[in-house]
Amino acid sequence: MKVFSATALLSVALSCGLTNSLKIIINNDDGWATANIREFYKALRADGHDAYIVAPVEQQSGQGGRTVFSAEATLSRPGQFDTVPAGAPSFGSDPMDSHIWYYNGTPAAVTFFALDYLVKRQNIFNGSEPDLIVTGPNEGSNAGPFVFTLSGTVGAAYAAVSRGIPAIAFSATDILNRKYTAVNTTNDPATVLGKLATKVINQLEEKGNGENSRLLPYGYGLNVNFPYISTKPTALSDGVSCVNPPFVYTRLTGGAATNIAAYNEETGIFNWASNFTSPGVNACINGDCDLPGETDVIKECKSAISVFTIDYDAPSCGGAERIGELLVGLVENEGKAAGNGTGNATVVAVPGPAETGAAIRVGVNGAMAGLMSAVAIGMSML
Ligand SMILES: *[C@@H]1O[C@H](CO)[C@@H](O)[C@H](O)[C@H]1NC(C)=O
Ligand SMILES: *[C@@H]1O[C@H](CO)[C@@H](O)[C@H](O)[C@H]1NC(C)=O
Ligand SMILES: *[C@@H]1O[C@H](CO)[C@@H](O)[C@H](O)[C@H]1NC(C)=O
Ligand SMILES: *[C@@H]1O[C@H](CO)[C@@H](O)[C@H](O)[C@H]1NC(C)=O
Ligand SMILES: *[C@@H]1O[C@H](CO)[C@@H](O)[C@H](O)[C@H]1NC(C)=O
Repeated sequence: MKVFSATALLSVALSCGLTNSLKIIINNDDGWATANIREFYKALRADGHDAYIVAPVEQQSGQGGRTVFSAEATLSRPGQFDTVPAGAPSFGSDPMDSHIWYYNGTPAAVTFFALDYLVKRQNIFNGSEPDLIVTGPNEGSNAGPFVFTLSGTVGAAYAAVSRGIPAIAFSATDILNRKYTAVNTTNDPATVLGKLATKVINQLEEKGNGENSRLLPYGYGLNVNFPYISTKPTALSDGVSCVNPPFVYTRLTGGAATNIAAYNEETGIFNWASNFTSPGVNACINGDCDLPGETDVIKECKSAISVFTIDYDAPSCGGAERIGELLVGLVENEGKAAGNGTGNATVVAVPGPAETGAAIRVGVNGAMAGLMSAVAIGMSML
């Protein structure tokens, strides 16, 4: 039997040319004790990254970018899967691993807890900011712009981008809500997803311009969606196994869904349902309109990578130029509204419904989110 010393293992690791260590925080909305986030953490650590899990102490799906901090210094009920008892502090670390933290707040609040408490006050990165904040992989896909007001996974990522930290939201099609201890095979979907997500990060690191460059420019983030992962053919995977889905460069709009209020005549109550053909949420205004939409790509065994920005302004051409003209007489700087200011960009014809879509973007308050939902289904709202 061979015995490896720590030094021997270290030299093996170095000679394999493993990546430099990136300072990474992993957040999510499904909770700090779920299988997906823990397997992602393991994959990042295995590749030599200085990764921390900092995530909600319980399930926080559907919070979008809401920032809600705990009003109590202690937990009023046990943390997810009974990992933390009621009465424990509202934030803390795993007694077995000081790189694994929980906080009792929404996903975006956890991003700020990580940056302002762990990074600034606890100095976990020795005075540096993180190189990257990643979220997920979420239990369920987050495809299309509509999820930007809805998904805590995406909300925690754009909260990081707003603070100037490069961020990537990862989402899986699999909706398996499991405690991390449920993972007991090497090809568990959570393990496969963690490795796929790590591959994206290693690629950005390798292609970057050296130690002092940012992984992504200010104001930009990535939205990554994985298809259903399966080692054997299943009905859900359309009869094919899928463990190594190739990546496709995508855009947020294209086959994207928005909600409708589905009325049940019998019960007299409404529930949500998806509409994949609404013109607002599928208008192509920014970016490359020839790219495929996320939703369509992940129907096959392929992973979708889209670029988003948190500059939610509409581009000054097309629909926004027309809207600006409507504002002449109301606004003080009407020269800009009339399109004769410095922002009078070349008008590129934007066909069809794009003209009504002013801004299909993120809202962190209810009024803004409601307005954006209306825009998504094709109504003109101001
Ligand atoms: C932390 O930063 C200080 C000052 O920049 C430096 O002297 C020290 O070596 C760093 N420690 C680690 C573990 O990187
Ligand atoms: C592995 O975990 C699954 C649940 O995730 C369970 O059904 C199965 O019995 C476990 N197998 C072993 C060998 O522990
Ligand atoms: C989905 O949206 C399209 C376009 O607005 C509309 O024609 C269609 O009726 C909608 N479908 C449902 C089920 O509401
Ligand atoms: C630009 O807008 C201002 C304010 O409406 C107007 O006074 C001015 O004549 C405009 N200039 C041109 C070149 O149209
Ligand atoms: C603004 O751009 C439009 C389209 O190119 C052009 O017709 C218009 O004359 C421009 N306005 C000014 C004041 O330059």
